Amino acid sequence: MSTRHDIRAAARLSVAPMMDWSDRHCRYFHRLMSRRALLYTEMVTAPALVRGGAVHLLDYNIEEHPVAVQLGGSDPRELAAATKLCVERGYDEVNLNVGCPSDRVQSGTFGAVLMRDAPLVADCMAAMKDAAQDIEVTVKCRIGVDDQAPDDVLPAFIETVAAAGVTRFTIHARKAWLQGLSPKENRDIPPLDYPLVHRMKEAFPDLHLSINGGITKLDDARAHLDVMDGVMIGRAAYHDPASVLLEADQAIFGDPAPARSAHEVVEAMYPYIEAQLAQGVRLHSITRHMLGVFTGRPGARKWRRILSEGASQDGAGVALLAEALSHVPDHVPAS
Ligand SMILES: Cc1cc2nc3c(=O)[nH]c(=O)nc-3n(C[C@H](O)[C@H](O)[C@H](O)COP(=O)(O)O)c2cc1C
Repeated sequence: MSTRHDIRAAARLSVAPMMDWSDRHCRYFHRLMSRRALLYTEMVTAPALVRGGAVHLLDYNIEEHPVAVQLGGSDPRELAAATKLCVERGYDEVNLNVGCPSDRVQSGTFGAVLMRDAPLVADCMAAMKDAAQDIEVTVKCRIGVDDQAPDDVLPAFIETVAAAGVTRFTIHARKAWLQGLSPKENRDIPPLDYPLVHRMKEAFPDLHLSINGGITKLDDARAHLDVMDGVMIGRAAYHDPASVLLEADQAIFGDPAPARSAHEVVEAMYPYIEAQLAQGVRLHSITRHMLGVFTGRPGARKWRRILSEGASQDGAGVALLAEALSHVPDHVPAS
């Protein structure tokens, strides 16, 4: 487990919670690329944990630290019980989802719709903080929903929730439109407002604030870090992990050199994959997260194709990766 200090340092760059994407296999893979970045789980709902007893949803590999779990919910007592389970499991941070716009989630009154009820979020966070003791509880939010005016709503939201003792927030710099847009459209269509998020750091200099949304390059992340405490990257880290994560320890955390090459990362997955296959996990469940590792490099297409076509076949194993890897030149000539 990491200390609060380590978590805050790690939060300088984090990989976003992404349902169906940032699962434990994905996080293990990402951790081989960056030893330092903070990794978030997919959202796990408090009702599933507390009422459904689905505590297996909290399984992770110890190699993933520093790792934060994201909860969904809006019942303070249930969230407190769920937080306790997360802390017992050794997570380094417990985050509340106040950004997800999906219908299913709206019907359970959690996610972005909570932007309309800062006092309830404050109650939830106070209960979670109590249950978490030394482990940090944080919020991931939007800048507003629907017809809300972000310039008013966002600072009021932060102020109310911070009064419950929350000192770290990640802000997805766009609204969620709860009617008429799919979750996917809600990640692209509402316009980004980075200046507003930057102004929050001026307004709340004592809070640890991270910015999220549409950031795809480490250079851009560094520019945000001139103002903000942290940057969270989602889709770019997933689709092009080598550009984002392999360079991150050097570019964002000041380490001397990348720990591994992309080839070495793939090879470092072999023992993990063999152990998972032995437990009945299908190769595709792991390799689907690895398809983008050579994005933009010669051989990338063949790599993807061999894995996409072969990984669901019975008996597929590490040999398939080795075959796919042999089509990607190890040393790319400088262009
Ligand atoms: C497939 C997918 C699933 C997501 N699931 C979650 C989630 O469970 N919880 C959450 O707070 N955000 C979720 N998000 C939103 C991301 O965390 C992030 O806020 C968003 O993608 C914007 O960042 P980006 O432009 O760097 O991708 C998801 C995004 C994607 C692409």
